[in-house]
Amino acid sequence: MKRIKVLVTGGAGYIGAHTVVELHKSGYDAVIADNLSNSSEDVLTGIEKITGEKPVFERVDCTDYNALADLFLRHKDISYAIHFAAFKAVGESVSDPMKYYRNNLISLINLIEIMTSAGESSIVFSSSCTVYGQPSANYLPVGEDAPLQPAQSPYGKTKQMCEDILKDASQAMKERLKVISLRYFNPVGAHPSALIGELPMGVPQNLLPFVAQTAAGVREFLNVWGDDYNTPDGSCIRDYIYVCDLAKAHVAALDRMTERNGKMDENIEYYNLGTGRGLSVLEVIDLFKRANSVDVPFKIAPRRPGDVEQVWADPSKANKVLGWRADTPVESVMQSAWKWEKRIRGME
Ligand code: NAD
Ligand code: WQD
Repeated sequence: MKRIKVLVTGGAGYIGAHTVVELHKSGYDAVIADNLSNSSEDVLTGIEKITGEKPVFERVDCTDYNALADLFLRHKDISYAIHFAAFKAVGESVSDPMKYYRNNLISLINLIEIMTSAGESSIVFSSSCTVYGQPSANYLPVGEDAPLQPAQSPYGKTKQMCEDILKDASQAMKERLKVISLRYFNPVGAHPSALIGELPMGVPQNLLPFVAQTAAGVREFLNVWGDDYNTPDGSCIRDYIYVCDLAKAHVAALDRMTERNGKMDENIEYYNLGTGRGLSVLEVIDLFKRANSVDVPFKIAPRRPGDVEQVWADPSKANKVLGWRADTPVESVMQSAWKWEKRIRGME
């Protein structure tokens, strides 16, 4: 069977790199397009060590229409793309919204215009559970039919706007554009080899990188943002999904688009990607400590403004339609995060 070439924008980033590895395993040829604004070329070496093959890399800024169009001239046989390229720091998006609107919206608009002008195209889009905000109790766990809520940050708004753009474009170009929007819950962990993982810039805002840095002694203690929520132990609840499981969902989405596995019912589909199990902040700390036999000192601190109290996924649509499941045991996930932290700190 002829191998299918897939453009992976943002493929040098955290989720992108893990997806490139899974694409390779599943017989797809990935072409990475990344401007390295939040990643480094070292990632390519990590991918090569895992797959045994040097990844095809194009240093391209997706907001640069001509540069992206030129890439498609060099790779005329690409009609599938997974679009990860975006900025994702929620706090920074509040202080510098234009940076987020420019990067996240223009990258997607360029990609759609360039791909569809060449012919039939399919795009897998990196969306986020942030589009649901705090779902009311009767929508927990969150299915795809839960109402979307006004986003809390410009970052979140870009995800909603991108979904709107994709919806309008796919409706207007029914014969030319297929879209699968994957709404990720909280991606965590690293490849079991510890050759690729998440590289937070500066002080991590996300829970798992902060937990791992605290265990490594880089941070004195972890602040648990609030223990007075209406949850069993008072701390917030999220659905932490292992990044390698998440990567596999992208392959499953492509299999559906390429009709290797089923056929799309509509030319835009949405899937919630999570484990279906909510974990509180205190449970995560405990699981990390027990899985790795390390200490994670923490203090209870005031609530973090804008935090959602509890949200976790109902992944049954992805389980059924995509034939995909996030099934890596949570202990292995915590171990992968610690192994990665130790490797980047030169601790082993
Ligand atoms: P990341 O920052 O590690 O990866 C994004 C990659 O895109 C980086 O390598 C960066 O250099 C590149 N990039 C950014 N702008 C670009 C541009 N204009 N042109 C080319 N390359 C560009 O982030 P990630 O965690 O891997 O997230 C990937 C996608 O998933 C993003 O769209 C993000 O919004 C989305 N997402 C992430 C999370 C999460 O918690 N990590 C949750 C939900 C959704
Ligand atoms: C998880 C829980 C914190 C750090 C963010 C984005 C969202 C999405 C994923 C992309 C919360 C608590 C955290 C710490 C803590 N990204 N926490 N101490 O807030 O669910 O979502 O990342 O789309 O858009 O908003 O993830 O990892 O920041 O926090 O107590 O030092 O951990 O309060 O309850 P969040 P997170």
